[in-house]
Amino acid sequence: MKKAMIVSDNITKSFGNNVALNGISFKVYEGEIFGFLGPSGSGKTTMINILTGQLSPNEGQGMLLDKYSLHLSASDLETIGIVSDKSGFYEKLSLEKNLQLYGKLYGVPNSKIDELLKSVGLYDSKQTLAEKLSTGMKQRMLLARALINAPKVLFLDEPTSGLDPTTSQSIHKLLLDLKNKGTAIFLTTHDMNEATLLCDELVLLNKGHLVERGEPRDIIQKYNQNKKVKLTYSDFEQEEILFAQLNQTDLSHVIAIHSCEPTLEDIFIKLTGEKLNA
Ligand SMILES: Nc1ncnc2c1ncn2[C@@H]1O[C@H](COP(=O)(O)OP(=O)(O)OP(=O)(O)O)[C@@H](O)[C@H]1O
Ligand SMILES: [Mg+2]
Repeated sequence: MKKAMIVSDNITKSFGNNVALNGISFKVYEGEIFGFLGPSGSGKTTMINILTGQLSPNEGQGMLLDKYSLHLSASDLETIGIVSDKSGFYEKLSLEKNLQLYGKLYGVPNSKIDELLKSVGLYDSKQTLAEKLSTGMKQRMLLARALINAPKVLFLDEPTSGLDPTTSQSIHKLLLDLKNKGTAIFLTTHDMNEATLLCDELVLLNKGHLVERGEPRDIIQKYNQNKKVKLTYSDFEQEEILFAQLNQTDLSHVIAIHSCEPTLEDIFIKLTGEKLNA
């Protein structure tokens, strides 16, 4: 049996009259990447704050590694990694020094820091001052820092927002490696492609309400009732038809047939009337 590393048990959180999270439940197991997806203001960061014991819910409870989130001790927190845009670092120290300093807190040797720098592709820039790093490099530095203590549970608040595709891909590879080593990863993102690619399971959130959940492929199949295919003709004209019409169609000038599944983004718009990346 897989072990549940993160549990959200009917969590509700309001700020005044504003319901940021409305009765949300889920479990994240070891070796799983769990996606928490929703537009700005839907409650993603609030959920991370509650699960990591930084904020109390109005109802329900968060649990991490079999403990109530609000009861986590300093040594429990040592087994957790958090990456968010709020994570600070020393601007005037080099990348390497920033990480070494953090490593000292956990008794991690500098050789391990070098290894981490290599794994996020920053080893050659280790002398660069933190303030001189690009957004993508800062993101990767924060990720490296969160990995110093080899966390069993990793919270990532939009780890690839604003990154170029190559950097995003290298972070994706790293996350899949961690997953394969058993780390439970809780990931918030606006990026539906990222979620489809990485997540074992995900939740779609709108204004604090859970609107859909499941494995990305199952969700896409569920909303793919009127299956369509795209035909490309020899003159490169294209046409979309229903899959069911395929056997009544003259295919003699067709050079390619592609299935057109909805994306999670399409599904989100269908469910809420809103864009995810607004
Ligand atoms: N400390 C706070 N005090 C009052 N309201 C808050 C507080 N923190 C969050 N909120 C509100 O709760 C809702 C959810 O906010 P949250 O930051 O969790 O959203 P988010 O999904 O992380 O958004 P983003 O994608 O922009 O980071 C918003 O309406 C926000 O204004
Ligand atoms: Mg947020």
